Amino acid sequence: METSKKILQKIIVGLFFILTACIAEEGPFVTEIEIIDVSFATDIQPIFNNNCIVCHDQNHFTGLDLQEGSSYNLLVNVTSAFYAPNLRVEPLSLENSVLWHKIIGDDVFGGIMPPGEHLSNFDIEKIESWIDLGALNN
Ligand code: HEC
Repeated sequence: METSKKILQKIIVGLFFILTACIAEEGPFVTEIEIIDVSFATDIQPIFNNNCIVCHDQNHFTGLDLQEGSSYNLLVNVTSAFYAPNLRVEPLSLENSVLWHKIIGDDVFGGIMPPGEHLSNFDIEKIESWIDLGALNN
């Protein structure tokens, strides 16, 4: 009696893990993205100015300088220093862009950016839209 109870318990726990794994695989971030009209200069660069350049200046050891004037050319179609062969930003692909994984903090390419923090949802939406619209220098 006691052992069959234990077996039943194990089956229930097993089913729970399978179920949660299935839900996780759907990737809720990718399916729920709402595209908004954005410009790199007026919407994206200010996010970097306010949250990133305190570390990501011309001396950053990854080579990723996010200051105005250098950020675009060091992000778009540039191979990541730490997570090659992925690009820091691959236009039209959130999934392949190291930057996207780091701002949503899903740990696919190391820890969240900024470290220990989370950009506002609106800032994340702007960066997602910018990549989905081709990561233009506009
Ligand atoms: C407190 C300092 C700090 C801040 C603030 C910060 N970063 Fe970072 N960043 C790092 C460090 C350290 C690394 C290297 C370790 C790693 O990849 O996680 C890094 C790595 C990265 C990488 C990978 C670079 C490569 O080529 O492999 C990206 C992309 C990135 N940061 C984006 C950002 C963005 C965008 C912001 C602002 C939203 C930001 N970071 C804010 C310290 C910081």
